[in-house]
Amino acid sequence: MKVLVTGGLGFIGSHTVVELQNKGYEVVIIDNLSNATLNVLDGIEKITGIRPEFEKLDLRDKEKVIDFFNRHKNIEGIIHFAASKAVNESVNKPLLYYENNLNTLIFILQQMAERSLQNFIFSSSCTVYGEPDELPITEQAPVKPALSPYGNTKQIGEEIIRDNTKAHNIKSIALRYFNPIGAHPSGYIGELPRGVPQNLVPFVTQTAIGIREQLQIFGNDYDTPDGTAIRDYIHVVDLAKSHVVALERLMNNNNKKAYEVFNIGTGQGSSVMEVVKSFEKINNVKLNYKIVGRREGDVPAIWADTSLAEKELGWKAELTLDDALRDAWKWEKNIRDAKNFK
Ligand code: UD1
Repeated sequence: MKVLVTGGLGFIGSHTVVELQNKGYEVVIIDNLSNATLNVLDGIEKITGIRPEFEKLDLRDKEKVIDFFNRHKNIEGIIHFAASKAVNESVNKPLLYYENNLNTLIFILQQMAERSLQNFIFSSSCTVYGEPDELPITEQAPVKPALSPYGNTKQIGEEIIRDNTKAHNIKSIALRYFNPIGAHPSGYIGELPRGVPQNLVPFVTQTAIGIREQLQIFGNDYDTPDGTAIRDYIHVVDLAKSHVVALERLMNNNNKKAYEVFNIGTGQGSSVMEVVKSFEKINNVKLNYKIVGRREGDVPAIWADTSLAEKELGWKAELTLDDALRDAWKWEKNIRDAKNFK
């Protein structure tokens, strides 16, 4: 059975390719390499022993995408990661985000309808909930107005998929990720942000290795036990596995509705300070950090109620925050060693 993974060389995509291969699926990746490198294919091959099929392709290039589908007639499912994901950048380049994240989504769904392809998994985000009224947050919680064009593309993306599912014979699942962190325990694939990392854990590992001088902790005056903001950090390998079970649910017709949504987190909140302290302890390193003011747009606390995913998908996060921080650090050290080596 062949699965198409768009954006399959990215952080979550590459880990999902590994889990698909581990379960015996044949994978074809398309990626425009805008935020990934071809070395990722080597990393995947080192882990699974199989080099996935890959085509460099930008989903905005419609003719090439049509040609791709014409040449790949045996695709059973699509996991769609390809999208831009930098919140700040999206504020400055909204049209790029709407074009890149939504036009391409519409085009893929059109291709699926034309070709009677049925099974579609979408990367959504807990950002659709905005600031939660109740914690932990369930899938029934209201979707709040988006704080950034990026967040809006996830909300609108979900709506497009929902409406499309009603009109066409397509089954879809949107997975609302909480905060993906970590790396493959082998150290062969992981997160590789371009430029200065915006997310916490890559900033932590880059500070620990000396690329960044100091981590800034954005705010310690939140209404949380230690004053720093709380998130639900999920190991990327656990997150990757959720895609495989979600896809199998659709392929085996075990879905209850044509369009379903699941929270994908651990169900546990950790504060920024807890992340910093856990990182220092598990890796036995000291981190240079200071407390600064809050970052605009950050919610004080959010973590997932994951009972629906557990019940319906039979999926539950198994790895801990410590596992993720240990693996993120191993990956950071590996890539820096490799660079020095070159
Ligand atoms: C952000 C986005 C979310 C997106 C996700 C993945 C917002 C509001 N949310 O999540 O939509 O899906 O990234 O790209 O932008 N922190 C520091 N210092 C740092 C970096 C982060 O203290 O240098 C803190 C933040 O204030 C936050 C926590 O660490 O409390 C996690 O931040 P981050 O990793 O950026 O993720 P989110 O903001 O939760």
